[in-house]
Amino acid sequence: MVKRVLRTTTLPLLLLPLLLPLPDETGAQREPRRRAAPAAPKPPGKGGCCEEVRALKVQLANVSSQLEELARKQEEEVRSLLRQVLDLDQKSRLQEARVTEAESKFSELNGHVEIIRLQASQAATQTSADANYDCASLYNKNYKISGEYKLPADMFLGTPELQVYCDMETSGGGWTVIQRRKVGLTSFDRDWKQYKRGFGTTRGDFWLGNDNILRLTQQPTVLRIELEDWEGEKRYAEYQHFSLGNELNSYRLLLANYSGTAGQDSMRYHNNTNFSTKDKDNDKCVDKCAELRKGGYWYNCCTDSNLNGVYYRYGEHTKSTDGITWYGWHGPNYSLKRVEMKIRPQNFQS
Ligand SMILES: *[C@@H]1O[C@H](CO)[C@@H](O)[C@H](O)[C@H]1NC(C)=O
Ligand SMILES: *[C@@H]1O[C@H](CO)[C@@H](O)[C@H](O)[C@H]1NC(C)=O
Ligand SMILES: *[C@@H]1O[C@H](CO)[C@@H](O)[C@H](O)[C@H]1NC(C)=O
Ligand SMILES: *[C@@H]1O[C@H](CO)[C@@H](O)[C@H](O)[C@H]1NC(C)=O
Ligand SMILES: *[C@@H]1O[C@H](CO)[C@@H](O)[C@H](O)[C@H]1NC(C)=O
Repeated sequence: MVKRVLRTTTLPLLLLPLLLPLPDETGAQREPRRRAAPAAPKPPGKGGCCEEVRALKVQLANVSSQLEELARKQEEEVRSLLRQVLDLDQKSRLQEARVTEAESKFSELNGHVEIIRLQASQAATQTSADANYDCASLYNKNYKISGEYKLPADMFLGTPELQVYCDMETSGGGWTVIQRRKVGLTSFDRDWKQYKRGFGTTRGDFWLGNDNILRLTQQPTVLRIELEDWEGEKRYAEYQHFSLGNELNSYRLLLANYSGTAGQDSMRYHNNTNFSTKDKDNDKCVDKCAELRKGGYWYNCCTDSNLNGVYYRYGEHTKSTDGITWYGWHGPNYSLKRVEMKIRPQNFQS
């Protein structure tokens, strides 16, 4: 009987050894077959048959339990594979961001070379009368490539040479960039002196410095704020009037005439407010907003926007209230991917 079962069975090879009475070794498996043959002529004892059936049942149970085990393992493997795929997906997204960063650096570098060439060709014809006051005046002298420029020292105002980044493309160009967040490696949790002088690198993340911003806003000035979220969407806010008080007046902010696409105006709340840093609490409440929001800003009580807040990377960008926020677009817990603040004279014409 056992023999016939073995001959006619179509079970997978894998399971064949399990159906044999002695599952120990391949050598031992042959013996029971020989023993089973002489047992056949004996009077048809029910015990022999039932024992075999019982043995088969036990083995069947064993096989099905092993199948279950296999299925479970497989499921685990699928799950672990899925985890790996998700992991890879995230890694590739990071990689993509790095490539974009590298590409933008490359094009910036190209622009820089072009600017040096232009400046060299024009240096000979330049006189002190047409001082490069800001990026708008550079634009009007035909410097129309975005990049780093040096504004010369001004003997009359007593201001030193100043390195700036000019945006010569956006909305007509002529913009002097006063703040940028895009790389996220420069801390903006700094003290009064550092916000006064400026910090960071004009190519990457930086604050131009309250004294420098003051120097560049002595004529009626427009402020433009550009925002980008982690989905790659871009918005902007523009103020037809932007000015600061001097240091004695705590660099008090004055803004007027908002327009743009950034939803509800999230700078208005900071209008008419003194600048605060962690070591100089000039905000309008008992809380120390600069400490809570970890930046230097015109903190009211405390924020409707926090453009000098903490740079949070993708995945961490919705978990905190001290990030780079703009309530009117993404609310108080969403830290943006990229921000630029830039200024140009009201009377600028491209
Ligand atoms: C099932 O059979 C294998 C060998 O084929 C044996 O190692 C195992 O102990 C058996 N399990 C049960 C539950 O009988
Ligand atoms: C802002 O600063 C000025 C001068 O530093 C000071 O007189 C004024 O009281 C400050 N305002 C607030 C609300 O702190
Ligand atoms: C900011 O305050 C000034 C002076 O109080 C006001 O003229 C101006 O309209 C305000 N700006 C905004 C955007 O509300
Ligand atoms: C705001 O715009 C209005 C109308 O265009 C103008 O009359 C006003 O002077 C502007 N305010 C400032 C502070 O630029
Ligand atoms: C923002 O985060 C705070 C604290 O983590 C939480 O209490 C609040 O409900 C969140 N707000 C939104 C709009 O997600």
